[in-house]
Amino acid sequence: MAGSAIHRELIKQGYTNIITRARNALDLMDKSAVLDFFQENQPDFVFNAAAKVGGILANNTYPADFIHQNLEIQNNVIYAAHKTGVKKLLFLGSSCIYPRECPQPMQEEHLLTGPLEPTNDAYAIAKIAGIIMCHSYYRQYGDNYLSIMPTNLYGPGDNFDLQSSHVLPALIRKFHAAKVQNKDTVTLWGSGIAKREFLHVDDMANAAIFIMQNIDASDIYERQILHLNVGTGKDISIENLAILIRDIIGFKGNILYDTEKPDGMLEKCLDVSRLNDLGWQYRISLSEGIRHTYDYYKEMIKKVK
Ligand SMILES: NC(=O)c1ccc[n+]([C@@H]2O[C@H](COP(=O)([O-])OP(=O)(O)OC[C@H]3O[C@@H](n4cnc5c(N)ncnc54)[C@H](OP(=O)(O)O)[C@@H]3O)[C@@H](O)[C@H]2O)c1
Repeated sequence: MAGSAIHRELIKQGYTNIITRARNALDLMDKSAVLDFFQENQPDFVFNAAAKVGGILANNTYPADFIHQNLEIQNNVIYAAHKTGVKKLLFLGSSCIYPRECPQPMQEEHLLTGPLEPTNDAYAIAKIAGIIMCHSYYRQYGDNYLSIMPTNLYGPGDNFDLQSSHVLPALIRKFHAAKVQNKDTVTLWGSGIAKREFLHVDDMANAAIFIMQNIDASDIYERQILHLNVGTGKDISIENLAILIRDIIGFKGNILYDTEKPDGMLEKCLDVSRLNDLGWQYRISLSEGIRHTYDYYKEMIKKVK
């Protein structure tokens, strides 16, 4: 989802010399294949958006895969970038790097100030290692590598598989199915009180390219921070999000909550004032973004049929 959005935005902005590879053409866990690819193609600017990604269920069920694959991918990409003289690299992490009891909104300085949320600590540790790796290559070699931590993303290219998806695409799928099947109720995981922040992936792509064009590693590290938050700075309870999605989809039934299932962190909202001060703001409202994503979902299932 994120990589495709960055690709779309680069084309929209007029870039033409863009190199991408699907996983079946280049497995980023294969160190020598990654190095060969970088040596052959000599990219100048690298967006590292590839990762093993999933929602709370997938993270909690497959922690070994999450830590192993993410460490391997980012190690191989950052190392190959260094070896082949990449001019600038942007590493995509995630807001789950912050401590479970992090003060809200979460500021860049809150990194490594407390224990992590246990349901996704393996993923978070891999992402923190990526941040430290970019910083280490800057410290030791002066490499222009920096990390951005986007909040929860959604939009075209999202994963709608209920076993591995994040909350927003899961809600779109559940409410759509309930509407089509004329169900009376939809049951959601958790109590609905947890609050989350959501950023449309096209806004994230715009931010990533803005940072690639305008902000250097030194701008970040000299401010005594290790990464930049990317988000809206606004959160919404899962209950209100569910109501918003239900109304956009037009499901007329009731929403029930399975409180036996975990909520994860109760609040998770980024402080995005640093990125705002550096000149970037989000543009797509949550309701507009959900409408857009629902249209994408309906097109996607039409094609599958
Ligand atoms: N989704 C979010 O809410 C969110 C929020 C904050 C940050 N992020 C960050 O954004 C980045 C991208 O996330 P996303 O949501 O776009 O996930 P995604 O849609 O699952 O994209 C990840 C991509 O990485 C590829 N990949 C995984 N393992 C690979 C390997 N060994 N070799 C080559 N390619 C591999 C996947 O290929 P396949 O399609 O073949 O699996 C997929 O295309 C991640 O770093 C994530 O931490 C995401």
